Amino acid sequence: MTLTLGIETSCDETSAAVVEGSRVCSLIVASQARLHAHWGGVVPEVASRQHLEALVPCVEAALGEAGVHMRDIGLVAVTSGPGLIGSLMVGVSFAKALAFARGLPCVGVNHLVGHLYSAFLDRDPVFPLVCLVVSGGHTELWRVDGHGAVQVLGRTLDDAAGEALDKVARALGLGYPGGPALEHLATTGAERRCPLPRVRTSNPLDFSFSGLKTAALERVGQATAADVAAGFQAAVVDQLVRRAVAAARSEGVERIALVGGVAANGPLRTALAAAARSHGIEVWAAAARYTGDNAAMIAAAGTFAHAAHGADPLTLMADALARP
Ligand code: KG4
Ligand code: ZN
Repeated sequence: MTLTLGIETSCDETSAAVVEGSRVCSLIVASQARLHAHWGGVVPEVASRQHLEALVPCVEAALGEAGVHMRDIGLVAVTSGPGLIGSLMVGVSFAKALAFARGLPCVGVNHLVGHLYSAFLDRDPVFPLVCLVVSGGHTELWRVDGHGAVQVLGRTLDDAAGEALDKVARALGLGYPGGPALEHLATTGAERRCPLPRVRTSNPLDFSFSGLKTAALERVGQATAADVAAGFQAAVVDQLVRRAVAAARSEGVERIALVGGVAANGPLRTALAAAARSHGIEVWAAAARYTGDNAAMIAAAGTFAHAAHGADPLTLMADALARP
């Protein structure tokens, strides 16, 4: 089978990986989070310059860790969008130049579709399924019937779940990125001391976190930080779990994939698995090491896309607003 070199530079992680099908041979992730923490969020211009410095060392390390040389690689897969345009351009330009110089096929991968494949790493993809993509920039529910066959069932009408968690965490003085710190703080709080409203949307599979976020921010100073964290996390998890299970039931599928940075959240993983199980639905959550942005998921998605549709032309462009 072909070895695929994957490249991911859409936000604040520079990552390179080598995969064979969906088996991960190596994965290198250079996170810029500490750099951006100083400003409380990702600074796009700083991010693209950092990708430029980190990318070649990451690719060399990924080849080294896999014990292969560039001549062993048969395909280059790169995140082409959505994401920060300057950051995407670093990865796409690099991937195209490398593919051209080596006479290799190159394939652009949608970042969110990439996240889907994080649930398939080191195991064989199975369809159909409902996928809950829950990250810092996106919250979407899909029906997926095969490689490249994605149908959007619902998406957030305002903030992404991760974005809302980050904003509440910031108000609680937890720094950036706030999701993991908020999860940790919530373990010492109690949801019942800071109950927050449940949200309705006219399409019952759409999401909305902005009103919930405002309600949580209003409780800061009234309830303890730990109780606000617990109450807000519970409300976010409840909304995600209810919709994902409702989608799987109405679509009549037996599997839910849980992917994206917020999929690292312990209470979300536990609650979704329990709710799904009570309806005979199985959850394929991305392994914790693959929930954040990484090039292994991009390489796996690219391998299957290339097998189905062939390579992209070298006119491939970064697209900040790409949709699945
Ligand atoms: O997928 P990702 O790494 O980047 C994007 O494509 O956005 O997701 C990052 C998001 C951030 O909002 C971060 O706070 C959140 O994932 N996150 C978490 C946890 N770990 C990361 N949210 C809740 N609980 C966690 N343990
Ligand atoms: Zn992501």
